[in-house]
Amino acid sequence: MPRPLRSPIPAPVLETERLVIAPAQSRDADELEALFHDPRVHRYLPYERRIESGHTFVERARRGVREGSAYRFVGRGRDSGEFVVSIGVFAIDRWDRSGELGYAVARSHWRRGYATEATTAVVDWSFRRLGLHRVEAVVQRGNRPSERVLERLGFRPEGRLRDAVVSARGFNDLSVYGLLADEWPPSARRRGVNLSGAARRTG
Ligand SMILES: CC(C)(COP(=O)(O)OP(=O)(O)OC[C@H]1O[C@@H](n2cnc3c(N)ncnc32)[C@H](O)[C@@H]1OP(=O)(O)O)[C@@H](O)C(=O)NCCC(=O)NCCS
Repeated sequence: MPRPLRSPIPAPVLETERLVIAPAQSRDADELEALFHDPRVHRYLPYERRIESGHTFVERARRGVREGSAYRFVGRGRDSGEFVVSIGVFAIDRWDRSGELGYAVARSHWRRGYATEATTAVVDWSFRRLGLHRVEAVVQRGNRPSERVLERLGFRPEGRLRDAVVSARGFNDLSVYGLLADEWPPSARRRGVNLSGAARRTG
């Protein structure tokens, strides 16, 4: 029988080529709120992101780490300190050793490879340090950029849940993507997935 995850572990600080990815904290609250209240960002995110305050989000993030059920991070520019990305692995099931990946990049930083960089680091940590066996992600129909992020990391599409969420335009389908520990790391052929950065870790 596969063994369950150990008790909750402290949230790390992950460093990539351009980002420092640290647990979400109070100083991030305003920028998180601005990110999630941006209509082009929340278009394909769960409904509650549109109405939740940044402080509530951070409170929930702290509780998740205490309980070992979620690790939510903020990625900032290594040099600039600028807010770039909110990313997390949540809905962690310690018996099934599974968790769900979610991410959103501040609009001024789109299309510069930040989602790929941050997800690579967090997925790498989730498999190698946290000990997950499966990482899952769900993507709303129409969110091609997010599908590309997952495909580059080696996630496989596993099925479609019809009208499973309410989006800005009404009910929408969700595609489920999954990646298993023994499928990681992705083949070197996948452009832009840089594991040397993902391996560095502090804290
Ligand atoms: C999805 C999202 C995180 C992508 O972030 P990003 O930093 O721009 O992504 P990257 O630069 O790493 O690009 C990853 C891939 O997506 C593609 N992509 C990014 N934006 C795109 C767009 N608007 N249209 C088409 N493709 C796009 C890139 O070209 C790249 O694909 P490639 O490998 O074929 O070149 C960002 O658009 C976002 O925050 N969206 C709103 C929140 C959201 O939808 N989160 C995901 C919920 S499942």
